[in-house]
Amino acid sequence: MKILVTGGAGFIGSEFVRNLLSEGYRGLESPGVTVLDKLTYAGNPRNLDPVSDVPGFELVQGDILDRPLVDDLMRGTDLVVHFAAESHVDRSIAGAADFVVTNVVGTQTLLDAAHQAGVGRFVHVSTDEVYGSIDSGSWSESQPLEPNSPYSASKAGSDLLARAYARTHGLDVVITRCSNNYGPYQFPEKVIPLFVTNLIDGKNVPLYGDGLNVRDWLHVEDHCRGIALAAAGGRGGEVYNIGGGTELTNRELTERLLAATGRDWSAVTPVTDRKGHDRRYSVSIAKISEELGYAPQVPFETGLADVVQWYRDRRDWWEPLKEKAGLA
Ligand SMILES: NC(=O)c1ccc[n+]([C@@H]2O[C@H](COP(=O)([O-])OP(=O)(O)OC[C@H]3O[C@@H](n4cnc5c(N)ncnc54)[C@H](O)[C@@H]3O)[C@@H](O)[C@H]2O)c1
Repeated sequence: MKILVTGGAGFIGSEFVRNLLSEGYRGLESPGVTVLDKLTYAGNPRNLDPVSDVPGFELVQGDILDRPLVDDLMRGTDLVVHFAAESHVDRSIAGAADFVVTNVVGTQTLLDAAHQAGVGRFVHVSTDEVYGSIDSGSWSESQPLEPNSPYSASKAGSDLLARAYARTHGLDVVITRCSNNYGPYQFPEKVIPLFVTNLIDGKNVPLYGDGLNVRDWLHVEDHCRGIALAAAGGRGGEVYNIGGGTELTNRELTERLLAATGRDWSAVTPVTDRKGHDRRYSVSIAKISEELGYAPQVPFETGLADVVQWYRDRRDWWEPLKEKAGLA
């Protein structure tokens, strides 16, 4: 089975590829895996070091907007798993153009090339942020899309294009929408790695607004397991939410990270709230659980403890990234 993974040198894509080529996923056996990744600030070939020698693995540095390259890579491909994106909300508020180009036009380029090449299945990895914000209850997949940030709007645009290629051209597309991921190899601009690395270095952490925004935390291993289930057994043209089941306010998350690193609230600096900050995200996972047997397996307590330990152990990985990104 020939699998093309876009954005496979990023946080979630690299977890998917490492697992695909080590323990493997049922229904995706014996994969030949090509990663197409532009290696932006967020892409890091070192994330793939553990599998770089596995036969059948190839990393191609390139842009999902490069149509001749994409056409070439699509030839003979059975499955595309599309992670590549500009992914950081704060960056999309500072400047949205790259988000529209990569997330919308880039996804359309891939969908069109996949359709032309007769690719068997295209899994589009999306986010719960496309639904907007919800005060109570949880979103099902039929919820209308009401994105609030330029990031989530660009992801919603790509979701709708994926749907359109399924409806118009009959491309076998499956869309997944997941909640907030955490785990190893996450770029240290995102809240958990930023807070952990600041706290273990004796620095302060910035807490947005009143800190009462709620997020549902999903371990990256569980997310990738959900993607693999959707890729192998999901119904074409369908959307599957993937959640972790641990809803926390940012204050509660901060409290846990302070405890895990032996710091206290004097290490927290309140900062002006993010513009348009969504109050709460919450996805229902009834559909993927009932149809595909998905259930998150990593308890948040142990997952978070392991992640804190990983960042303690892998200063060699994150320190150069923070320095280069001006986050040190
Ligand atoms: N991190 C989360 O909590 C989360 C939650 C929901 C959905 N998602 C979605 O999951 C996917 C992966 O997220 P992530 O956190 O791993 O992101 P990431 O920023 O860590 O990785 C993105 C990867 O895409 C690559 N890339 C960017 N532009 C490219 C281009 N034009 N051509 C080729 N490669 C390009 C980058 O180099 C990087 O390796 C994204 O589509 C994101 O929207 C992430």
